[in-house]
Amino acid sequence: MEKMIIDADPGIDDAAALAVAINHPALDVQLVTTVAGNVTVDKTTQNALKILEFFGKAEQIPVAAGAAQPLIKPFEDAARIHGESGMRGYDFPTPKMAPIAKTAVTALYDTIMASPEPITLVPTGSYTNIGLLLAQYPAVKPKIKKIVAMGGTLGKGNMTSAAEFNVFTDPDAAKIMYQAGIPIVMIGLDVTLQALLTPATLATIKTLNRAGEMLHDIISSDGDQSTAGVAMHDVNTIFYLRHPEAVTTAPYWIDIQTTGPAIGETVADVRGAYHQGRTNALVGTAIDAAAFNQWFIAQVRGMK
Ligand code: BDR
Ligand code: CA
Repeated sequence: MEKMIIDADPGIDDAAALAVAINHPALDVQLVTTVAGNVTVDKTTQNALKILEFFGKAEQIPVAAGAAQPLIKPFEDAARIHGESGMRGYDFPTPKMAPIAKTAVTALYDTIMASPEPITLVPTGSYTNIGLLLAQYPAVKPKIKKIVAMGGTLGKGNMTSAAEFNVFTDPDAAKIMYQAGIPIVMIGLDVTLQALLTPATLATIKTLNRAGEMLHDIISSDGDQSTAGVAMHDVNTIFYLRHPEAVTTAPYWIDIQTTGPAIGETVADVRGAYHQGRTNALVGTAIDAAAFNQWFIAQVRGMK
């Protein structure tokens, strides 16, 4: 079992990533932490609890609420894409459980340090909690096996021409994360946009079970889709964990722009000259979209 922690801002695709991870027999989700991003942290926390309760996992997997604001930059949400609740399209009951009393940073620290083996971190929102953790508690670094992060892009952004949403939201936290010396896999927007969930896949999951109906309904309400399909950005991190062979990667040094018109840009040293061959991330460049669609259907089929 791969021990992991998901740090998310659900968010439609975060919710789908959570649903897949907590139901996967080979993944051991030890903790879910939340962050402001797609919507405010109060809402992302409620949404994480809603997904855990939907699958009857809220007693086993703690949820800790995290940062309400980026480290420095003012907060801007993405409610126009994910709806005011962050997970529009399905009528979830109000969660019965509450987040644990610890903050996300304390819960991350305690969970990582208590683990007998290094843990994989999967951030699918902005990296504010991770940045705070690494700055306050550098002792966690050797106990983090790797970070598989959705965010950034080697191509065009979705917030500005240069910047993808998660890195744009908190570039200062992203800079701390990329400079921490921990193995990082960057699953960027230019990759996730290659793996659209097709209308045929969406129609199929609706017929499978109650989980498929729920996921169909929230994914169908995503405000950023086309006739070709809808990107499931955050789910691609979980797909990578299970099927790294389906994602082409290249080692690069990633720098983060923290000021100016390109704020939030992930700058890859593709020539390897500026950083003299040193690299700090394995960066996704291509993904097998058909394999992703088939895998996603299989994951939903296995859900209860
Ligand atoms: C990222 O931004 C968010 O809106 C999505 O949940 C995803 O994590 C894509 O740029
Ligand atoms: Ca997200």
